[in-house]
Amino acid sequence: MTFLADSLARIKPSATIAVSDKARRLKAAGRDVIGLGAGEPDFDTPDNIKDAAIRAIKAGKTKYTTVDGIPELKAAIAAKFKRENNLDYKPEEISVGTGGKQVLFNALMTTLNPGDEVVIPAPYWVSYPEIVALAGATPVVVATDLASSFKLSAQALETAITPRTKWVIFNSPSNPSGAAYTRAELKALTDVLVRHEQVWVLTDDIYEHLTYDGFVFATAAEVEAALKSRTLTLNGVSKAYAMTGWRIGYGAGPTMLIKAMAKLQSQSTTNPSSISQWAAVEALNGPQDFIAERAEVFRQRRDLVVSMLNQAPGLTCPRPEGAFYVFPSCQGTMGKKTAGGKTLASDEDFVTALLEEEGVAVVHGAAFGLSPFFRISYATATEALEEACGRIHRFCAGLR
Ligand SMILES: Cc1ncc(COP(=O)(O)O)c(C=O)c1O
Repeated sequence: MTFLADSLARIKPSATIAVSDKARRLKAAGRDVIGLGAGEPDFDTPDNIKDAAIRAIKAGKTKYTTVDGIPELKAAIAAKFKRENNLDYKPEEISVGTGGKQVLFNALMTTLNPGDEVVIPAPYWVSYPEIVALAGATPVVVATDLASSFKLSAQALETAITPRTKWVIFNSPSNPSGAAYTRAELKALTDVLVRHEQVWVLTDDIYEHLTYDGFVFATAAEVEAALKSRTLTLNGVSKAYAMTGWRIGYGAGPTMLIKAMAKLQSQSTTNPSSISQWAAVEALNGPQDFIAERAEVFRQRRDLVVSMLNQAPGLTCPRPEGAFYVFPSCQGTMGKKTAGGKTLASDEDFVTALLEEEGVAVVHGAAFGLSPFFRISYATATEALEEACGRIHRFCAGLR
């Protein structure tokens, strides 16, 4: 007998947060550690957004608001969907939460029953299967591979769907692989979903603005209008506007779902921070040019990391279209012995030895449902990335 709920035993703590915490602890103990585990931009929130928050505080916009977002923010979100995705959403089809994570949580908790299935392509963002499991439903993980650049095929999607499938989760660009679906690739998947009327689509577009080399972003409801009435289009200001700490995310979908999500939120956190909501209004309505400038810095870092990792013996690193992650394979290092005498039998062994022997913190692929790989976040100063990749090279070159 335990005092804690059974539902808690169904979930794992976030591995990405655990790696960041471990790296911080080692650093605090005086170790020279480079943390490449965190999923947030190293850039600061732009000043115009900070100023809008300060104005909101001074103007007394410091009270409870409508549970799922102030009208001004819903209007800014509707304008964003129109401007950037050619999608029409009314205010009652939009829900604002405390981060994209809460919107995702609300959507899954309000719709899933025990026995329901949710199709999740791997590698996946760590929270998807955990929230599904917390709701008592079953994550149906569909593995992708290096050869397909970690993209789900129409065939694999078709095979994964059963009469119990309630949602399919897409995340493009992806955390952890950085892979993004072109319009044509997405169309092949939405063609499958059109035929399965019981299946809803949850598309997590939080990395929308972080794509490179002229890649054109597309999202499911835009690519296939027939799916819009059963799609939740999830997005937020955390990544594009460097606002991870402000905790504002949003989703758009059918009113029935949005209402249910507001009901749940009204009995948990109520509204997201009023001040952060006003900051998000400025983020979405204000100048957007800094996003492309920052994306260019990310592109240069991606190119640096990909080229350095591919020179490391035993590693293979594809060049992804977006986000600020790469997901190299460490297959070629498996079974080898490190300079410190550890035998590498899994990607977890690889990242543990890398942290202990070279002071570089990355996250093992198993945490994202695919092995043997690891994730590097390159949202870190270029010099630190160069140093970290140099250490990874030395680590791999020292394997016997
Ligand atoms: C794929 C993905 N979706 C959603 C989120 C949630 O972002 P937030 O809750 O900070 O808005 C993250 C953050 O790491 C993410 O990587």
